[in-house]
Order: sequence, then structure tokens, then C-alpha cells
Amino acid sequence: MLLEGKKIILGVTGSIAAYKAAILIRLLVKEGAKVKVVMTPSSKEFITPLTLSTLSGSPVMSEFFNQNSGDWNSHVDLGLWADLMLVAPASASTISKMANGIADNLLITTYLSARCPVMVAPAMDLDMLNHKSTKDNLSKLTNFGNFIIEPATGELASGLIGKGRMEEPEVILNKIIDLFNSKKKLKSKRVLITAGPTFEQIDPVRFIGNYSSGKMGFEIAEEMANQGADVKLITGPVSLKANHTSIETIAVKSASEMYNECVKHFQNVDIAVMAAAVADFTPKKVELEKIKKDNFNNTIELVETKDIAAELGRLKKTNQILIGFALETHNESVNATKKLISKNLDFIVLNSLNDKGAGFSFDTNKITIIDKSNNIEHFELKSKAEVATDIVNKICKLL
Ligand code: CTP
Repeated sequence: MLLEGKKIILGVTGSIAAYKAAILIRLLVKEGAKVKVVMTPSSKEFITPLTLSTLSGSPVMSEFFNQNSGDWNSHVDLGLWADLMLVAPASASTISKMANGIADNLLITTYLSARCPVMVAPAMDLDMLNHKSTKDNLSKLTNFGNFIIEPATGELASGLIGKGRMEEPEVILNKIIDLFNSKKKLKSKRVLITAGPTFEQIDPVRFIGNYSSGKMGFEIAEEMANQGADVKLITGPVSLKANHTSIETIAVKSASEMYNECVKHFQNVDIAVMAAAVADFTPKKVELEKIKKDNFNNTIELVETKDIAAELGRLKKTNQILIGFALETHNESVNATKKLISKNLDFIVLNSLNDKGAGFSFDTNKITIIDKSNNIEHFELKSKAEVATDIVNKICKLL
């Protein structure tokens, strides 16, 4: 799916081509996009809201206020929600209102509030399209940074033949995919990510583990895949599942299994992010039978596990980037900087257990990034998804 998770507002205006909006929604949804439809009042003369809400799986918005529930459709929230606003079909009247900020319907107020890219697919009769007024309005939209999808030439609703037909939904879909691809910062990059805890077996029923949920590593994997990367996610035992089609999950249990997978794949990747909470010690011997109280000498002998990040740091070539994490309880910056240097990392993401809302069991995290040049960046407490975006942005700056 080429538009997985992309949030798209489809603005539909009064034009015969409004029927093509139905096909467009189907194509967008099939590619994994989430679509919300905003209709102008006159568009409902051409296609019913019921058709579009059924296809998009979300109620169609048209009025500022919902008569039944008494609440209002926030064009601001809608504008901020979207990754793309597409107006298709765009009538001459809507194009004129967009160009001049005439905010008399929900579609225009949403347009004025949107911070995302905007695409406009005009549909009108050839003389309307040719009129100086329409041309001026379209060039205004281009100057605003909006993308105009040129109408096609063919038979028009008036019976005339010429330029003015809204471009076919398949063509519009490809333009949307191209737009998102051109914005992807990690296009064709290969990435290795470790996540979760490791379980070190003591006997058939017991292990040494830790509280890592894997959430931070999974969020980073998701964000990197969204940015176009091909991700290998090597995860210890967690209850999470990666959904993105560009993420290949490799499930492991122990630190040594994680080590083997990492070393195997590292030479083929551009970036590695070590977000796993790898056990530092493992039982020297795995008992084949359950240890019984009556013959236990109160001691389990432990040996150190291999340090995966340090090994990848040794193998690292100049064109590879290696990122590590440090979860500290005291002397945080000093300890993190030591790890940054000893493991040959490009930067380290530090979380302190002393910060409220940071650590294993939270959906939030508060991080500090320390890089090789000892630049220290502190971030606010944020959701782990937002933290993942900050980390990925920092990686993109290194590329
Ligand atoms: N790490 C690793 N393999 C290990 C231990 C740690 O890859 N066997 C990685 C972690 O994924 C993390 C970084 O090294 O990115 C730092 O892990 P941490 O446990 O904080 O550091 P340690 O080097 O194990 O030091 P200590 O536990 O003594 O603080």
C-alpha cells in the first residue's frame, strides 16, 4: 500500500465531475489512506454525502455546525490533521474563493487552516477555464505553493470539446503518491532497529528479563518506514505488532540471538538504531530441567552478554550511522557520553528514570540527544510517536 496511514482531506465542489470523487476515494482507501470528505453545499446536488461517507468510512462534513449533536466541525482541527488536502473536482467558484480567501463555507475555512500541501484538480467548461479571471486565480494558487493538476482535454458536460475535464482518478492518485514519495526523507535507505527486552533463560520455566515494552523501538520503525526506509526490526519478546509493509520483523528471545541477527544484517544497512533493552548478563548454564528448591544452592552464575551496539560500532563503516540509547538513573549525561564514545555511536538518546513520564512503562518519553561533537539537545515530555519523529529528524540531518 503506497499511502499507508496518510491522512487526506478530499474537498468536493459543485461539478458534474463530482462522481469521480467516489472513485478517487476508493482508490485512496485501497492504498491505505485515511480520507475525510468536506463538501461544498452545491456539490450535494451532484453526488450524495451518503455515497462519499460510505466509501470513506467517515461522516462527510459540510456545515460549520451539526444540527443534531449541537457541536461544530472544527476546520482548524481538520486542517491540522491532514497530510494532504485535495480539492477534486475544484469548480471555478471554489478556486476563486481559495485564491481570495472568501471563507463562506467549511471547505474554504479548512483550506485556509491547512498547513499541509494542497492539490487542486479543476473541472469546468473550456471557456471558463480559459477566462482571465480563472487563469489569474489558478496562478495565485500556484504562487501560494498549491499544486494544480491540469485538467484533461476531451468532451465536456456542455457537449463542447476542449480542455476542462477533471483529470482521471487514477492519474490523480499517481500524482499524490509521487508527491508523498518526493517528501520522504529516508527514501531507499535500509535500516536496522532493535527493540524490546531480551529474555535470558535460566531453566525451562524461568528467565531473566526487564520491563521494556518495545514501544519506543516500534515507533521509530514506523516513523522510518513512513519516511520511505526499508526496516528490519529485530525485536525481543513484546506484545506489539508492526503493521507497515516496509517493516520486516525478526523475533528473537535472547541477547545472543539478537546479537547474531544484528551482526548478520548490519553490513547491508545504512542506519542502525539500538533501542532494545538488552540483558547485560545471562545464566552461564541453562538448566535442562526445572530447578527445584530442595537442590538449589541459592546461586545462579551469570556471564556478561556480548554488547551488540559496541560490536556494530566496531564494524561501522564511514557511510553508516549508528544510534544508541541510554537509560540512566544518575550521572545521566556523563554516563551517556561514555557509552556514545565507547560504542562509537553517532548520537545517543538519553532517558533518565528521574524524569516523570519517561521510561519503559509509559506511552510518553523525555529525551536528551547527545552527539559526537558533544552537542546536547533537550526535548520536552512527548508521546513516544512524537519522540520517534524527533529522533528520525535528527538522523536525517546526519545524512
Ligand atoms: N546495548 C546492546 N547490547 C548490550 C547492551 C546494550 O546493544 N548487550 C545497547 C542498548 O541497546 C543501548 C546501548 O547499548 O542502545 C546502551 O545500553 P545500556 O544498557 O544503557 O548500557 P550498557 O552498555 O549495558 O551499560 P550499563 O547497563 O552498565 O549502564
